Amino acid sequence: MVILVTGGAGYIGSHTCLELINAGYELIVLDNFSNSNIVPLHRIYEITGKHIKFYHADLLNKNSIEKIFMENKIDAVIHLAGYKSVGQSVQSPLSYYHNNVTGTLFLCQTMQKFNVTKMVFSSSATVYSINEGAISEDAQLGSSNPYGRTKLMIEEILKDLYVSDNNWSISILRYFNPVGAHSSGRLGEESNGIPNNLMPYITQVAIGKLEQLQIFGGDYPTPDGTGIRDYIHVMDLAAGHIRAIERVMTSTGVKAYNLGTGNGYSVMEMIIMFSQVSGRKIPYTIVDRRPGDVAVCYADPSMAKRELFWEAERGIEEMCEDAWRWQLINPSGYKEIVRKI
Ligand code: UFG
Repeated sequence: MVILVTGGAGYIGSHTCLELINAGYELIVLDNFSNSNIVPLHRIYEITGKHIKFYHADLLNKNSIEKIFMENKIDAVIHLAGYKSVGQSVQSPLSYYHNNVTGTLFLCQTMQKFNVTKMVFSSSATVYSINEGAISEDAQLGSSNPYGRTKLMIEEILKDLYVSDNNWSISILRYFNPVGAHSSGRLGEESNGIPNNLMPYITQVAIGKLEQLQIFGGDYPTPDGTGIRDYIHVMDLAAGHIRAIERVMTSTGVKAYNLGTGNGYSVMEMIIMFSQVSGRKIPYTIVDRRPGDVAVCYADPSMAKRELFWEAERGIEEMCEDAWRWQLINPSGYKEIVRKI
């Protein structure tokens, strides 16, 4: 079976491609490298011995997408390509709406033209308006930022698409907080500039690239006063995509699933665990809350367990170990190697 993975060179994409290959799928990757590069695809070859067919293409260029569908018999699409920074989306909303929404429209139009009606779409827990406590899929939707609204709009478009043609089968995956890396240390999360997210920030402090972590808020109504999130190992997330592909191949309809562990950990607990596994001190200061952050946010993942037969298996110790191994082996991410190629 042939799967087209859009955004397959990115953080979640590369780990998902590795799992897809291990599960026996044939892959085609489309990526425009706007926030990634070719190195992870080379590394997947090193790990698996399998080449991935790759197109350097942009979803906003409809002709180039059509070419891919013309040249290949594609059975299903995993659609991960998109801009993903909350902060940037506030600065440049038009480019976010254009890239994420228009890109998806062009992709869906092309799929329709070539009669490919199976899709797994990468969404986010940011689509929930009540980001508080254990969140189930029927919680109220609504986002506080343009990035989140692009995800919400795309979810609505996909639902309308199914209503118009019941042959479509779409699984929408709402990720919580993906962290960690492949256990080989060969694939991981590359940050462009100073990281926005907690885990890459911690790993860069641990290795000495950044001086200290700022904890955004120490006065939340949580046991230690710091924010609580549902961190999920990226390899568990990758496995979730395999289960979702299996589902879309054997059913029709459109359905959203939370991919999280169902367990929340505080910023302080993450720092303590990371220090333990790395043997490094993580200096920190507690500063004001970051605007838009909530106290507690974790998934009710029971729907994915029931319907996708998927459950996260890795805990925060493994998440920290793998993130640290990746950081140690690749202090500059993939960049050193990109310069050499
Ligand atoms: N945090 C810090 N210091 C930092 C970075 C983060 O204290 O330097 C704290 C945050 O305040 C929060 C926790 O660490 O309590 C996690 O923050 P992240 O930025 O890693 O993740 P968020 O939960 O804010 O957001 C993530 C993704 C979003 C996505 C959302 C879905 O980055 O894209 O999860 O819930 F929308």
